[in-house]
Amino acid sequence: MQIQHNISLQALHTLHLDVSARFFYRWQENDKLDELLAHAKNYKRTIWLGSGSNTIFLQDVDDGLVVQIATNGIEVIEEDEQVRISVSAGNNWHQFVQYTLANGWYGLENLSLIPGTVGASPVQNIGAYGVEVKDHITRVFGVNTDNGEAFVMNNNECQFSYRNSIFKQSPHLLITEVEFVLSKQFIPHIDYGDIARVAQAIAGNEKLNANHVANAIIQTRKAKLPNPDKMGNVGSFFHNPIVPADYAKELLQKYPNMPHYPQADEKVKIAAAWLIEQAGLKGKKCGNMAVHQQQALVLVNTGGAIAQDVIDLKSLIQSTVLERFGIELICEPRFIT
Ligand code: EPU
Repeated sequence: MQIQHNISLQALHTLHLDVSARFFYRWQENDKLDELLAHAKNYKRTIWLGSGSNTIFLQDVDDGLVVQIATNGIEVIEEDEQVRISVSAGNNWHQFVQYTLANGWYGLENLSLIPGTVGASPVQNIGAYGVEVKDHITRVFGVNTDNGEAFVMNNNECQFSYRNSIFKQSPHLLITEVEFVLSKQFIPHIDYGDIARVAQAIAGNEKLNANHVANAIIQTRKAKLPNPDKMGNVGSFFHNPIVPADYAKELLQKYPNMPHYPQADEKVKIAAAWLIEQAGLKGKKCGNMAVHQQQALVLVNTGGAIAQDVIDLKSLIQSTVLERFGIELICEPRFIT
């Protein structure tokens, strides 16, 4: 095993805090997994990392092995009017989406430009602009790192829900491959926000196609969400809270313009960005961490942020929103301490 020592993690997670790993391994070959799992037993813990777009390292990792999952490969399993493909965990998500579009396989276009890897996509059931990845996952393959046993789970067994899955709850279930089903027929999903208008403007006189929609999503994301290569961030920092319908009704009497989305089971999802903005926190800074001006749900590293800045800003937002609206905001990223 080619273990590297004292590797900076600054470029390996998108919040770009200045932290390092004492032991680091870049895992590229699928068939090295058994050897890797055996070797990992020598450490107190193993931290599995994709592209670090939803992980925040709050301190140096001195007591464990950090493994960057960099396996790649895409295999067609079955093809007729639909296509079933198996994709290695380390593939870059956006490049994979572009690859599907180039092949005329549709369904993932609304999830364009989401930072991260394919293997991370089921963990928090990534979703954007009216589509969730669970809508296209057939099976997830992986290994239970506690006992080394391989697993395969169908869509139901993954227990997907909003920003959640069995993998989020059980970090010992390491995902090695994800199987997707995509359609050869393009069905647009453009009801969310401004997407229909932007996509139609891009299409002009042409018949609307999946590339138009993908480009509309890319344009919209670029306008609102900071590029993590330029300004460190982990996308949405908090989940959109889901509250009982009665409570949402009470809030709506006070704040009739509050964006809200009715869910199943008499629940209502509320836009956390709106709560943060209304609480007067847009642009608020703690040290070198700030609430992003274009999207209040995104916290940015304005340069040289340290872990304490992250904790201070996160705690300030949570306590202010709780006091003002009676709602507890739950963090979306994984914190490594
Ligand atoms: N809003 C504000 N202030 C802001 C930003 C937004 O009041 O600063 C309001 C908007 O006016 C809108 C509502 O909040 O009515 C929702 O905003 P937006 O459409 O930007 O989406 P979001 O709920 O903030 C979610 C996802 C994003 C995803 C977008 C688009 C979560 C936690 N986040 O954000 O996902 O891109 O919808 O579908 O569900 C991510 O997970 O990292 C992520 C970026």
